[in-house]
Amino acid sequence: MSNLVNTCLFGDAKQCLESLLPKYAGKVQMCVTSPPYFGLRNYNFPGQIGLEDSVEEYVQKLVGVFDVVWELLASDGTLWLNLGDSYAGSKKGRSSDRLAYFYGLQATNKGCGSGKISKTPLSGKLKTKDLIGVPWRVAFALQDQGWYLRQDIIWNKKNVMPEPVRDRCTRSHEYIFLLSKMKKYYFNNEAIKEPTTYIKDQKRNKRSVWTLSTQNDPTKHYAAFPPDLITAPILAGSKEGDIILDPFLGSGTSAGVAAGLNRKWLGCELNPENKDIQTERILKLQTRIRKQNSRHMPAV
Ligand SMILES: C[S@@+](CC[C@H](N)C(=O)[O-])C[C@H]1O[C@@H](n2cnc3c(N)ncnc32)[C@H](O)[C@@H]1O
Repeated sequence: MSNLVNTCLFGDAKQCLESLLPKYAGKVQMCVTSPPYFGLRNYNFPGQIGLEDSVEEYVQKLVGVFDVVWELLASDGTLWLNLGDSYAGSKKGRSSDRLAYFYGLQATNKGCGSGKISKTPLSGKLKTKDLIGVPWRVAFALQDQGWYLRQDIIWNKKNVMPEPVRDRCTRSHEYIFLLSKMKKYYFNNEAIKEPTTYIKDQKRNKRSVWTLSTQNDPTKHYAAFPPDLITAPILAGSKEGDIILDPFLGSGTSAGVAAGLNRKWLGCELNPENKDIQTERILKLQTRIRKQNSRHMPAV
């Protein structure tokens, strides 16, 4: 098998990951990813995850993917998993038109552009309007598979789409779960320390609520990570030269940030129409991050 580092395999995540096993089992230091959310978006591509008939089926699909991620990860490796929630029976899946309106983009069904979805399914004891708790269901299912569930990080979104609701608050957060294979794992907390507000030049451990704006990049990819959201995970979860994996690479944000921080990367993505978007975004992010970091290097 040829060297696949710094490449994206196009196809179903589980199958692509399995094809990496002969060469990369145990060699990946961390996985950072955002799978398609449950019942929220139609990527208009056969084999897509997220449009299952029940949340149970969705959770099982993701567990299948992360079972293979487990095999690829080094024993001290970590998984950083970004997920948002959905409401049962909701018809308010974000359509391409609404998101395009929000981001000021042209609606498209190409690449990661989304189509309308009908209704988030009900299953088990879920009633219409129930918050499904999708992120926690996935997190607990992974815990049952043997992962250590180490932390729930809240992504507090500075800019969210208005929701026409009157009986609850507008949702403005998502989760990033930190999971590990072992009790002890690689975590460079020094690399992500933050300034204290009260003692000058002092730093403190990074807090677990991260306030960041949602992505507003004209890439035609509506669900892209804000690069800053995954900078801390990559700095804490890996060293320069390590391999970072994203099984749902989309527009290539994880790869671009990894490359900018001098890490290697491996990706999978279902829709090959994202290839050009990825090539452009990875290069752009890599160049920008390296430039920013060189400015902060002490003069020798
Ligand atoms: C939430 S987006 C990921 C966005 C990515 N974090 C970024 O910054 O661009 C989820 C991606 O998963 C892809 N996808 C959906 N089902 C998949 C599957 N079965 N295997 C691999 N990729 C899939 C979609 O095409 C979409 O690009």
